[in-house]
Amino acid sequence: MEYYSPRITFFSFLLASLLISRSVSVDNNITYFLECLTSQFHFSDSINSVIYTPRNASSFSSIFLSSARNPFLVSTSGQRPLAIITPNNESEIQATIRCSKKHDTQIKVRSGGHDYEGLSYISQTPFVIVDMRNLRSISINTKENTAWIQTGTTLGELYCTIGKKTKTLAFQAGICPTVGVGGHFSGGGYGMMARKHGLAIDNIIDAIVINANGQILDRYSMGEDLFWAIRGGGGSSFGVVVAFKVKLINVPKIVTIFNVSRTLEQNVTQLVHKWQYIADKLDENLSLRVFLKSVKSPISYGKNRTIQASFTSLFLGRIEDLLPIMQEKFPELGLVERDCTETSWIESILFFAGFPNGSPLDVLLNRTQQINAYFKGKSDYVREPIPEHGLEGIWKFLNEEDENHGELQFSPYGGILSTISESETPFSHRSGNIFSIHYGVVWNNGSESKRHINWIRRLYMYMTPFVSKNPRTAYFNYRDLDIGRNNIQGNTSYRQASVWGFKYFQNNFDRLVRVKTKVDPSNFFRNEQSIPPSSS
Ligand SMILES: Cc1cc2nc3c(=O)[nH]c(=O)nc-3n(C[C@H](O)[C@H](O)[C@H](O)COP(=O)(O)OP(=O)(O)OC[C@H]3O[C@@H](n4cnc5c(N)ncnc54)[C@H](O)[C@@H]3O)c2cc1C
Ligand SMILES: *[C@@H]1O[C@H](CO)[C@@H](O)[C@H](O)[C@H]1NC(C)=O
Ligand SMILES: *[C@@H]1O[C@H](CO)[C@@H](O)[C@H](O)[C@H]1NC(C)=O
Ligand SMILES: *[C@@H]1O[C@H](CO)[C@@H](O)[C@H](O)[C@H]1NC(C)=O
Ligand SMILES: *[C@@H]1O[C@H](CO)[C@@H](O)[C@H](O)[C@H]1NC(C)=O
Ligand SMILES: *[C@@H]1O[C@H](CO)[C@@H](O)[C@H](O)[C@H]1NC(C)=O
Ligand SMILES: *[C@@H]1O[C@H](CO)[C@@H](O)[C@H](O)[C@H]1NC(C)=O
Ligand SMILES: *[C@@H]1O[C@H](CO)[C@@H](O)[C@H](O)[C@H]1NC(C)=O
Ligand SMILES: *[C@@H]1O[C@H](CO)[C@@H](O)[C@H](O)[C@H]1NC(C)=O
Ligand SMILES: *[C@@H]1O[C@H](CO)[C@@H](O)[C@H](O)[C@H]1NC(C)=O
Ligand SMILES: *[C@@H]1O[C@H](CO)[C@@H](O)[C@H](O)[C@H]1NC(C)=O
Repeated sequence: MEYYSPRITFFSFLLASLLISRSVSVDNNITYFLECLTSQFHFSDSINSVIYTPRNASSFSSIFLSSARNPFLVSTSGQRPLAIITPNNESEIQATIRCSKKHDTQIKVRSGGHDYEGLSYISQTPFVIVDMRNLRSISINTKENTAWIQTGTTLGELYCTIGKKTKTLAFQAGICPTVGVGGHFSGGGYGMMARKHGLAIDNIIDAIVINANGQILDRYSMGEDLFWAIRGGGGSSFGVVVAFKVKLINVPKIVTIFNVSRTLEQNVTQLVHKWQYIADKLDENLSLRVFLKSVKSPISYGKNRTIQASFTSLFLGRIEDLLPIMQEKFPELGLVERDCTETSWIESILFFAGFPNGSPLDVLLNRTQQINAYFKGKSDYVREPIPEHGLEGIWKFLNEEDENHGELQFSPYGGILSTISESETPFSHRSGNIFSIHYGVVWNNGSESKRHINWIRRLYMYMTPFVSKNPRTAYFNYRDLDIGRNNIQGNTSYRQASVWGFKYFQNNFDRLVRVKTKVDPSNFFRNEQSIPPSSS
């Protein structure tokens, strides 16, 4: 017994001091919550070492900010967490869920912290973060070609671990190495091999989830409904995903990459127009993405600014097989051998992530994001090619923004993506979509946020006639609260949630609501865009 006493004294002191502060009930709840959590482990040092509150001033702040990827949100909207828990094991997550239920503290789970609207680390109402950063083991089985990956892992850590172990296995997921597995895998996961191997969710074969009752479930014990929901419907409505088991894919030892840029003066409009007719139909070994922005013109053009399209590509094969395909399907681009580089899959990861040639693989382990600017993103799907005059309107918008600040990404679909049925996973954007558009704007001056956000909203309005309709669909992983949000408590009605729900999931939204109703009827796991149970 005497073992407990010093910490009980500490908590009495904490309680006393919080009782006299302003928001008594919130502070009360967090104090009782923390006391509950530590008491589950007899106030041991090991549980105390994973709890950060504002009283642990500098470590709290650095943990909070180190994966709060959008400084715009930190500076402007909502509240910071009352505490951050960085669990080292599943029991600590179970205890966190039990205690937060008991004391009505909302929890938000954060893996890589890349949520576009900061839903994993900012809120309008009081909350606690469960930050998965310490749960990042990866175990690769080269006999089965599978891997168990804990959700606190970043894509960079995953790619680096695979790349060091084998030259012929890989995984299909996004480009940015600091993105977290937890959010990315549960929301989709598009990358350079998606046309051949599908999204990250299409390669998930098992998972470990802790539900609202604190039970640890695998695919068998959770059942196929919940297992379906966490492959594209997001984790945050259903539980804490601790790990995913995935199928690794075979890649050739040698792949080919290129990144060629063209400007208006080099017929960008016609090239992008033509690209829309071939991008989804190309050999599925070839992914040809387009990045568009407005850049400073070479002086000789006599104009200040021009539009630059970068055609960025991965081909799962050799140059000699790539060139004839490009010559046949897209001769206008004028791709030649010297534009292309043969390399390994893991080196291509470094290339697409923007690391200089020759960087060691370990740069992928760095969890600090390279760019730390204010950011707003949006998305669309395109089902009919955009006419040239439509593209020219986009160029006007790009030229209106500050140089290099606005960017559009056109990512090709087709290939295997169009053979998987819309209801196979909650991610419904399959056949019939030529490409997705990602709109992004970055800025550094916090007093100019309004102008940049207005710009991207006006561009989105302009695009209405050219993109999918009824509903105008969007990619869940490019989270956008402009398309609809739940009420401030996150316990919204079906009607309110269906505004954004049908845009992300189309007809899968109703099944997500049914799963939610079954696994979390009291809506314990909720946020500004979480699936509501049907009773509310
Ligand atoms: C720079 C950048 C590049 C990107 N590139 C791509 C790309 O190439 N392809 C692509 O498809 N997407 C891309 N994205 C989008 C990315 O997939 C999503 O933002 C994704 O949700 C981020 O996951 P995270 O774990 O880093 O984010 P977090 O902010 O930690 O989480 C996102 C959401 O998932 C929930 N969540 C996180 N972990 C768990 C868990 N373990 N259990 C339950 N719920 C959880 C959170 O509560 C939150 O609601 C990119 C984003 C950024 C910022
Ligand atoms: C605190 O918890 C009680 C239940 O113990 C709940 O009724 C109350 O709403 C909570 N307060 C806040 C601000 O969450
Ligand atoms: C999990 O964490 C708790 C609290 O920190 C600790 O008491 C327990 O021993 C840990 N369990 C395992 C299996 O490591
Ligand atoms: C935070 O501070 C408390 C009280 O000083 C301490 O017990 C705890 O270990 C600290 N947590 C961390 C993660 O340092
Ligand atoms: C642009 O297109 C025109 C007409 O189709 C063609 O004559 C010209 O050579 C092209 N320019 C470049 C740089 O490809
Ligand atoms: C893609 O590449 C593989 C392996 O090189 C090859 O077998 C296959 O035929 C290619 N796919 C197509 C559609 O050409
Ligand atoms: C753009 O170019 C014109 C001359 O062509 C020049 O007068 C003007 O200052 C330039 N604007 C910017 C923003 O550089
Ligand atoms: C492709 O080229 C453009 C223009 O030079 C550059 O901005 C972009 O970063 C390059 N992309 C990659 C993946 O190297
Ligand atoms: C990690 O990346 C950040 C941002 O690019 C950089 O400043 C830092 O030096 C890197 N750290 C290491 C150890 O490479
Ligand atoms: C930021 O923007 C404001 C408003 O436009 C401007 O007054 C200020 O000079 C800018 N600050 C910097 C550092 O550019
Ligand atoms: C949401 O929760 C708040 C606070 O717990 C409650 O006052 C409100 O009635 C709830 N709204 C709905 C639609 O359930």
